[in-house]
Amino acid sequence: MRIGFIGVGGIAGNYLSSLKRLNQPVAAVCDVNAERAAQVAGEHQAASYGDHREMLAQEKLDAVFIGIPPGAHEGQVADAAGWGAAVFVAKPIGLDLDAVRRTRDVIQAKGVINQVGYMARYSDITEKAREITKDQPLGMGIGRFMCRMGAHPWWGKQAMCGGQMLEQSTHVFDLLRYFLGEVAEVQAYGHKGLGDDIADFEDSTVCNLRFANGAVGNVTSTCIANAPDGFAMELTGRDFYLRFVMDTRLQGQINGEALNFEGQEAGYFRQVEQFLKAVEQHDQSLVRSSYADAARTLAVTLAANRSLETGQLEKVVEV
Ligand SMILES: NC(=O)c1ccc[n+]([C@@H]2O[C@H](COP(=O)([O-])OP(=O)(O)OC[C@H]3O[C@@H](n4cnc5c(N)ncnc54)[C@H](O)[C@@H]3O)[C@@H](O)[C@H]2O)c1
Repeated sequence: MRIGFIGVGGIAGNYLSSLKRLNQPVAAVCDVNAERAAQVAGEHQAASYGDHREMLAQEKLDAVFIGIPPGAHEGQVADAAGWGAAVFVAKPIGLDLDAVRRTRDVIQAKGVINQVGYMARYSDITEKAREITKDQPLGMGIGRFMCRMGAHPWWGKQAMCGGQMLEQSTHVFDLLRYFLGEVAEVQAYGHKGLGDDIADFEDSTVCNLRFANGAVGNVTSTCIANAPDGFAMELTGRDFYLRFVMDTRLQGQINGEALNFEGQEAGYFRQVEQFLKAVEQHDQSLVRSSYADAARTLAVTLAANRSLETGQLEKVVEV
């Protein structure tokens, strides 16, 4: 399989090490930072490019990993799909829902395998929890992302990052959707003033959710403090409680019985392994986080951002 990369920064390193573990070579890499592209290309005996269109035209790739900042999405995913390559896209898949819809339509028209890097969907604890909740009605899902961000070239800038809910807590919003289904409406509040040197957006947010099936939920986020177990989620039903402590711990109380499950796999490696399998077998059903599905998670976080601005309840736009 001929694999290429668009963007070879932080998260690409994670994908590259999973490919190495799978003995899967990389044919070409591209980054607007030419030095970075050349360095990574050298490490992987791959060709190096500064422009993704040139790479796609030259390399006849079977699959392309795209790991660029949310605000840098300008059709790279659609370009790769347009050449018939399968696409693996780091979350979140952009900032603009119309552009995402257009890309989704290209992916659909070309029939290419597509996956988004919501790794928590591929962890042992998520697999275990899916098994347990298969026939379990759920009334509530709450989650949080609490982490102290440091200096970063683009993270703290709303225009490139989209804010913490869209960029980071998107993992929590997405995992809640995976268990509770579509979100119908949201209401968010934010606080500013304690992290102006970290981000030009809210340093702390809370977002209430109403799911289409009537369940309720909440996502709490901060980028100015580290909490132990800072990425966590809880689900409740009648005499049913599950707590996910990412990446590998699942605790619960189910009809009076305690559950303590320790997983091994956090999902980072398995998501790449699963993507390669899906590409080899040309079977999209092996993918648990498609581009079209990720578009719906983006719609929820965009509604949350609108609510921060308006102070009103916001309906989630259909994608
Ligand atoms: N756990 C996760 O799933 C996880 C973790 C970290 C980051 N991410 C996501 O991965 C994406 C990238 O984040 P990162 O931490 O790797 O950022 P980064 O800044 O470390 O790397 C991004 C790279 O993309 C390059 N780039 C920008 N525009 C480009 C373009 N048009 N063509 C080619 N290259 C381009 C930059 O030069 C840089 O090298 C973001 O969407 C982020 O949210 C996901």
